[in-house]
Amino acid sequence: MTQASVNAVRSVDLAVRDLDLARSFFTDVWHLQEVASDNGTIYLRATDRYFHVISLRSASPQEAGLVRIVLQADSRQAVDLIFEQVGRFGTAIDGAPRSLHGPGGGYGFGFKDPEERNFAVVCEVDDHPESGAQVDRPTRLSHVNLNCRENDATFGFLSAALGFKLSDQTRQFRFIRCNADHHSLVLGFNDNANLNHIAFEMPDLDSVMRGIGRMRDHGYPVEWGPGRHGPGNNVFAYFCGPGELPIEYTGEMQQVDDSYAVGKPEDWTWPPGRLDHWGITPGPSARVKAAQALFRFTESGYRLERD
Ligand SMILES: [Fe+2]
Repeated sequence: MTQASVNAVRSVDLAVRDLDLARSFFTDVWHLQEVASDNGTIYLRATDRYFHVISLRSASPQEAGLVRIVLQADSRQAVDLIFEQVGRFGTAIDGAPRSLHGPGGGYGFGFKDPEERNFAVVCEVDDHPESGAQVDRPTRLSHVNLNCRENDATFGFLSAALGFKLSDQTRQFRFIRCNADHHSLVLGFNDNANLNHIAFEMPDLDSVMRGIGRMRDHGYPVEWGPGRHGPGNNVFAYFCGPGELPIEYTGEMQQVDDSYAVGKPEDWTWPPGRLDHWGITPGPSARVKAAQALFRFTESGYRLERD
């Protein structure tokens, strides 16, 4: 039997301490657009077709964090096959795939990865018509970078159960893909299983650069960047958003296919003092390094309708 695969990271769900602040930040500063509100959860879209790319809900300081990562599959048949593939690993699953009743609907199920992070796989969401990219507005999620205590186990799960493929491995990270983007998830070699960062795709380099200025104007100075990464060749600018959420504007991600030669750690080394292709930015700030180690996943969240 051929293996079923997801084909995109479509959205993330976030529980925040200050919902009003997060809502104004993601609309007025980050340039997403509110599309729905349901039971206290706010849904925000980018310019691409996905119904939403991030949802926001209110939580106590103890319960704030990233609730889940939602992945896209082609069809109900693909979702059903992925459900079987996930089931072989014995991680928590919230039940068989079924019709979902929140904003955007869809068909899917929720589950945990081997490090207890919450994921969902969905299809048939009521997405928007294609409307084209707009300058200074994110088009979609680009990738989510996860700190991993158990990188081998998590990579084994995401490749066997969800169909991710390795694009590059460095000393610090595995970069894995599920479509033509060089990476949609990044798995770090860490001593914790928290969120490293969430990256939003911008339509062009100028939108990334003006985004840095807009963020600075609103009191969110760039914490690392601008620069151009090695693996993926994407441009980057990292920030600490509300609640010290580690977020990135990125763009120009390298497009690859199965002919791409998987890089090893020795293929990705920088000269002393360099961390990117351009060499114009200092390294990551102490503030963003702390944010990238401390922003947690919530324990609840793998039950799609009950968290
Ligand atoms: Fe990134």
